[in-house]
Amino acid sequence: MGSMQDWLGAQARVRSRRGLVRSTVPRPDVSHLDASRTDASRNGAAVLDTAVLDSPLLDLASNDYLGLAADPRLQAAGIAAVARYGTGARSSRVVTGTHPVHAELEAELAALTGQPAALAFSSGYTANLGILTALGGPGTLIVRDEHAHASLIDGARLSRSPLEVFPHGDLEALARLLAQRSQPRAVVVIESIYSVLGDAADVAATAELCAEYDALLVVDEAHGIGVAGGGRGAVHAAGLAGAEHVVLTTTLSKALGAQGGAVLGSAALREHLVNTARSFIFDTALAPCAAAAAAEACRIIAAEPGRVESVARNAALIAGALGLEQAAGAVQSVPVGPATRAAGLAARLEEAGVLVGCFRPPSVPDGISRLRLTARADLSPEQLRAAAALIRTLLSLTEVPA
Ligand SMILES: Cc1ncc(COP(=O)(O)O)c(C=O)c1O
Repeated sequence: MGSMQDWLGAQARVRSRRGLVRSTVPRPDVSHLDASRTDASRNGAAVLDTAVLDSPLLDLASNDYLGLAADPRLQAAGIAAVARYGTGARSSRVVTGTHPVHAELEAELAALTGQPAALAFSSGYTANLGILTALGGPGTLIVRDEHAHASLIDGARLSRSPLEVFPHGDLEALARLLAQRSQPRAVVVIESIYSVLGDAADVAATAELCAEYDALLVVDEAHGIGVAGGGRGAVHAAGLAGAEHVVLTTTLSKALGAQGGAVLGSAALREHLVNTARSFIFDTALAPCAAAAAAEACRIIAAEPGRVESVARNAALIAGALGLEQAAGAVQSVPVGPATRAAGLAARLEEAGVLVGCFRPPSVPDGISRLRLTARADLSPEQLRAAAALIRTLLSLTEVPA
């Protein structure tokens, strides 16, 4: 065991030196900030005066894009599901774990996105593992965008398919890879809105290419559902809802304010997944309270388009205030260079009262670490302006104070 302990210590030292240490320390309750308390120059340092605030931190880091995670209607739906079904699903969906609330959720997801069928998983991660392992294998080439999420990369690897990667958004490179393939089947994997850069894929053009080369397109809409296409997602916006060669995956944990994941496509695909997707079959079913909350979120998104519009308004505000090109969805991404600088800036912002995402390797390639700001619908223009002023001040400092 000595050699393993030595190795763990050495690994920790390397992470620390490179600015790559991640933390699971619980966050204080994050919600609202009184922007009138902003003092961007106290003691020569950029600071938001949080001492007088009800809540200590302004959250620009979480993925609760529509502010639904704390919505009383989602909470009530979750509590009712706990009362009716208990706190856990008790077993896999294919044993006794499927409850009426799972069918309800799947119907709501299908209705929101315009897809024929949906299958709920315990997370977006397991949904992506499930679809790619169930479709993959030696006879299926999997071609993915280089920025695809870790869960898509892992699903592709687990599938034992031959794998190819195309440069981010480069459809000519994708076409070449599809044209050269020797396998009878091909699956192309993209995200509709990319999680770190926040930029959008050209879903329509990618789908057209897939049709031309008889490939199936898997679009991860983790950051698209609830945000793009009036909340119905980028595939719906591209007029591709229900197209046989386009499959969606999503998480229920971002705009839907709950937890879990789903794959959406044809009834035949759903049936195939139920019978072959190992991360579905050998995994305890999604907790009923999360399923109920996500189903409620789908109904709210369809009924309250103003929430989705607020994300776009807030994204424009953040991008404008920071001089960034506005990204397609809720995520606005600020390039800051080395990982150590990103970590230093994020730590200073947190001290000053603003929580931002800090994306470093392996989430992004070395040298292009970023601060990731989410334009949540429930943030006010005053809050966003105050946070942006603070971020501008810190970014303009050549040295980030230790
Ligand atoms: C693009 C993308 N896909 C999948 C996931 C995984 O979803 P989950 O957190 O529900 O496992 C995430 C984020 O967590 C994501 O950003």
